[in-house]
Amino acid sequence: MTSCPIDRTTVTLSSFGEVRDAMRAKDLRQALYDDGALVMANCLLDLHGSEHRDRRRLENRLFRRETFEDYETNLLPRAIAEAVDPLAFVGRGDLVQIGYRAVMHLTALIAGIDVAPANADRLEHIVKVFSKGATAVHATGDRAELFAEVAEALAEFNELFFQPSAARRRQALADLDAGTVTPSELPRDVLTTLLQNVDALDLPEEVMRREVAFYLQAGGHSTANALTHTLNELWSYGDADLVGQARRDPAVLQRCVHEALRLHPASPVAWRRSLAPVETRSGMTIAENTLVVLDIEAANRDESVWGADSDRFDPYRSVPDGLHAWGLSFGAGTHACIGMELDGGVTSDPGAPGDVVQLHGTVALLGLALLRAGATPDPESPPEIDPRSERLHYSRYPIVFTSPS
Ligand code: HEM
Repeated sequence: MTSCPIDRTTVTLSSFGEVRDAMRAKDLRQALYDDGALVMANCLLDLHGSEHRDRRRLENRLFRRETFEDYETNLLPRAIAEAVDPLAFVGRGDLVQIGYRAVMHLTALIAGIDVAPANADRLEHIVKVFSKGATAVHATGDRAELFAEVAEALAEFNELFFQPSAARRRQALADLDAGTVTPSELPRDVLTTLLQNVDALDLPEEVMRREVAFYLQAGGHSTANALTHTLNELWSYGDADLVGQARRDPAVLQRCVHEALRLHPASPVAWRRSLAPVETRSGMTIAENTLVVLDIEAANRDESVWGADSDRFDPYRSVPDGLHAWGLSFGAGTHACIGMELDGGVTSDPGAPGDVVQLHGTVALLGLALLRAGATPDPESPPEIDPRSERLHYSRYPIVFTSPS
């Protein structure tokens, strides 16, 4: 966590250029999770400088494009079918719930947490509590109550998931040392990677526990948020042709995902604290030890970059050269999202030869499965916004499955 004494001086940056510069500035360090220290202290997202670089370098190895190809082709279709098929069978479900459940299997695999089917509901509950705890700074309810709930969830996570998963991986590493397994037989996940480097990185067990817990909640909440906003925008757009195209062509749905991500970043703001005076491109000097609020939502709607209709959902929008269609919703600079290609895919290249695998990303594939199963908003039960958060989170988004037209 930051070693600076807390100071109330705050500067908000909201133009696209200044927010992106700030994400890349080496003298601005992460500050959003100071209140969420119970679950976030010393996680990758909370580290700065060489500590961050060393850990990121290690964990990056798990996020190669070939690995994502394997996930998209083999693992994801199964995880999606398990989340969608039973609900399509009964004819109704909830988008937020489906997003969480489908991605949990995937993020647990990446994090290195083994989940028995009977414990999946518990893990989902725990991960949701971690998300609330991480963004405690935005919570509007009783904070002491929230922290007690987070501490309880951490204890349950430790006993039910972390310790058994760590024991299996320590055994696998001991087998490697004994020569009874080969390196390629080791699990390829964050927990195994951390256990293998525990001495080099000087990692106490509680930090490893928080790191894998962070992976679970970073993936779960943001994927559910992106899925819900994408389908909501698509259904509210008022163009049946677009819904039909998105159902037929994952590349069209992927454009909708990117546009919805631009308008509705899972983290509408990032926070940084200045470690030294920082000059902005508009000529302002941010004094040392200032809290700098990066308004990602405003930057993603900056009219000088996205045009006069920047507030409008337009999946056909032309994206300025050198920028991503999702704006800054996956961050930029050293903390740029490690799961970006996993969730957002790789932007489709219409000229690519047929044998090049196009990655559409978890959110688009999940949305596709739902549209193809005939999902539409439940006319009798409107979506609800989470009243306990200042952020625009859907707490529920009921859907029904009808025959796709
Ligand atoms: C639509 C989905 C997602 C969105 C919008 C998203 C967004 C972000 C953003 C904005 C950041 C940077 C925050 C900052 O600069 O303060 C970030 C970092 C991160 N995300 Fe994601 N994320 C998504 C999915 C995922 C998934 C699926 C995973 C894991 C498998 C993941 C893992 C991470 C990690 C580990 C970091 C920290 C990187 C670092 O500090 O070096 N994210 N994400």
